[in-house]
Amino acid sequence: MTGETPLISARKLGAVFDVSKPWLNRLLAAEEKKFLTAVDTVDFEIPKGKTFALVGESGSGKSTIGRMIVGLQKPTTGEVLIDGEDLFSIKDQKHLLSVRRRIQMIFQSPYASLNPRWRVKHIIGEPIRAFELMPASEIGKRVEELLDQVGLAKSDGEKFPHEFSGGQRQRIAIARALASNPEFIVCDEPTSALDVSVQSQVLNLMKTLQRELGLTYLFISHDLSVIRYMADQIGVLYLGRLVEVADRDTLFDNPHHPYTRMLMDAAPHIDAFGRTAEIVSGEIPDPINKPSGCSFHPRCALAEDRCQQERPAVRELGAEKAHVACHLSV
Ligand SMILES: Nc1ncnc2c1ncn2[C@@H]1O[C@H](COP(=O)(O)OP(=O)(O)OP(=O)(O)O)[C@@H](O)[C@H]1O
Ligand code: SF4
Ligand SMILES: [Mg+2]
Repeated sequence: MTGETPLISARKLGAVFDVSKPWLNRLLAAEEKKFLTAVDTVDFEIPKGKTFALVGESGSGKSTIGRMIVGLQKPTTGEVLIDGEDLFSIKDQKHLLSVRRRIQMIFQSPYASLNPRWRVKHIIGEPIRAFELMPASEIGKRVEELLDQVGLAKSDGEKFPHEFSGGQRQRIAIARALASNPEFIVCDEPTSALDVSVQSQVLNLMKTLQRELGLTYLFISHDLSVIRYMADQIGVLYLGRLVEVADRDTLFDNPHHPYTRMLMDAAPHIDAFGRTAEIVSGEIPDPINKPSGCSFHPRCALAEDRCQQERPAVRELGAEKAHVACHLSV
């Protein structure tokens, strides 16, 4: 992917949350303040028109990264660049609005993200009004175009969200995201609440829209089969740190990091009785008290003494130049 201009760059992104008890409780229990590092020096770039996917177990920091990349949460450290410009340093409000228009987000739950009291045409038209993109008299026609683009009927604009199925509601959320003509969309588990057959229809729609509109995606999922279908490049997160970043085929054909391999082994298998069986290997450690050195060492079959003491640096491995944070990967 080298040589392509990145639309989005995350530079040494970090997010730390203060998770201390209220001060009086702390005082009485003589406790120190507690901090949780949800995201730790995360670096990646997304070229225009491509999909970068983040995969990792629950609590690994996927949504926190997504929120920082769209500007909803200020990073504790590091920068988010869009076309080389730091999103969080923009002071001019008019310019900030024009940059924000280019970035949208789709969430996991289409129930929670759609206002139940608004008609669909009002929901989809809302970003057009917020960003003052066209005269009010033209919004209706644009909303009809958007409904058509996501495979819904014009008449659906008159209905309310509860009149639709989960898949249709996610189509409405996509239409609303497209309303501001964005270039970049963060998709946070957009299909994990849907049935498998509906899921593939929505994923196909997202791929078609990407091709037709030249969209760039940050795609977040814990499901490796969805990631494999959608991604050009993949970042594997473990306790807030990217432990492996590689092109899709490189990652699936030749995973380097022991955690990436464990995730692949843990992906649902069909057992001898035709049931789906999941192999889970070890518990996710407490994110407030992360293990020393390589934080994966308590679960890693290859761990050596060094792994408990020294945090592994990111190294470039193989002809495909995967980026891997492990002392032993070759
Ligand atoms: N506002 C917050 N205050 C304190 N801790 C938080 C906050 N938001 C997230 N965290 C913590 O940060 C870590 C990363 O959370 P995040 O929601 O980004 O993970 P995730 O990978 O999206 O998980 P999931 O797959 O469950 O959605 C978790 O340990 C979580 O408890
Ligand atoms: S650094 Fe050590 S503990 Fe961490 S993944 Fe590599 S071998 Fe395992
Ligand atoms: Mg999440």
